[in-house]
Amino acid sequence: MSDTTFTPRVFSGIQPSGDLHLGNYLGALKRFAEMQDTGTSETVYCMVDLHAITVWQDPAALRHSTRELCAGFIASGIDPEKSILINQSQVPEHAQLAWVLNCVARVGWMNRMTQFKDKAGKNAEKASLGLYAYPSLMAADILIYHATHVPVGEDQKQHLELTRDIATKFNHDYGVDFFPITEPVIEGTATRVMSLRDGSKKMSKSDPSDMSRINMSDDADTIAKKIRKAKTDPEPLPDSVEGLADRPEARNLVNIYAALANMTDEQVIAEYAGRQFGAFKPALADLAVAHMEPITTEMARLMDDTTEIDRILTQGAERARAITAPILRQTYDIIGMVPPVA
Ligand code: TYM
Repeated sequence: MSDTTFTPRVFSGIQPSGDLHLGNYLGALKRFAEMQDTGTSETVYCMVDLHAITVWQDPAALRHSTRELCAGFIASGIDPEKSILINQSQVPEHAQLAWVLNCVARVGWMNRMTQFKDKAGKNAEKASLGLYAYPSLMAADILIYHATHVPVGEDQKQHLELTRDIATKFNHDYGVDFFPITEPVIEGTATRVMSLRDGSKKMSKSDPSDMSRINMSDDADTIAKKIRKAKTDPEPLPDSVEGLADRPEARNLVNIYAALANMTDEQVIAEYAGRQFGAFKPALADLAVAHMEPITTEMARLMDDTTEIDRILTQGAERARAITAPILRQTYDIIGMVPPVA
């Protein structure tokens, strides 16, 4: 563990690679806004466009998704005055530090990354080199800010452990206390929102069934229909949280309800114990629509003026570079790169 005290700073990112869904909202965006609003740390939030291209992206669609994601951040409560809001490619120090970290991380560590195995599938030989090196760019995203806390969903845990390993090895190899050992912040009832069709799979934009997820672009009727049709079991809701243990679909809907209503699972169960899904699902649908509709409407309004979005990202990058450029320079000094003369 590091002896140096680092100023608390929060960093997190989302890929602009298609529609945002309820998992991204509850596991990430909503938490990002809450962490911003505690006002205790500087908060930096990022559209990770360089990560997105590790798999093929149509250029026009990528530009659109990046702007739409920015609209999603703002509509979810991220204030570009309070937080630094950026797209990764406008802050070149992310990619520059990633190269240095590629030389710190070990191939054996990368081989253990389950997300690479999942995404590359059986045809790993045909995957891009970028997809393989992805976790070291992710470590750079975090470490280039000396970020101390990273709010994410459960699926990012292994990448954050790798970030800690990379920081520890860098500090050890160069005999410095330079990079913080970042804390993952995986908290709340919605750290792993599951598919509405299969409670053993996470809600994901890559699921071929649109009925498996609630997209942030879905209208009220679509949201209500997807919740009504969500897979469940025939039993009523139990009278304790332990009763959800072997009921993944039921547990998922209770978790979603709790996260949307800012309640604990216990509080939801206390309210709905013994009730059938025929009663719980309409209540959940009403809650989801009431919560998501203003966000969706605001996203659409913001997308009417993409010049304003571009201005926000330009300004965010300027503020970000005031942090990242000196940290990159210090990194280069530590590892022995000759600096330019003043
Ligand atoms: P991405 O774009 O896949 O997801 C963005 C965030 O949403 C969370 N999330 C979920 N949370 C709960 N339930 C779900 N079903 C669900 N699906 C997604 C993810 O955990 C994540 O927090 N590698 C990252 C992006 C990234 C990053 C970073 C994150 C790049 N650099 C640095 C933190 C710090 C990713 O692909 O997230």
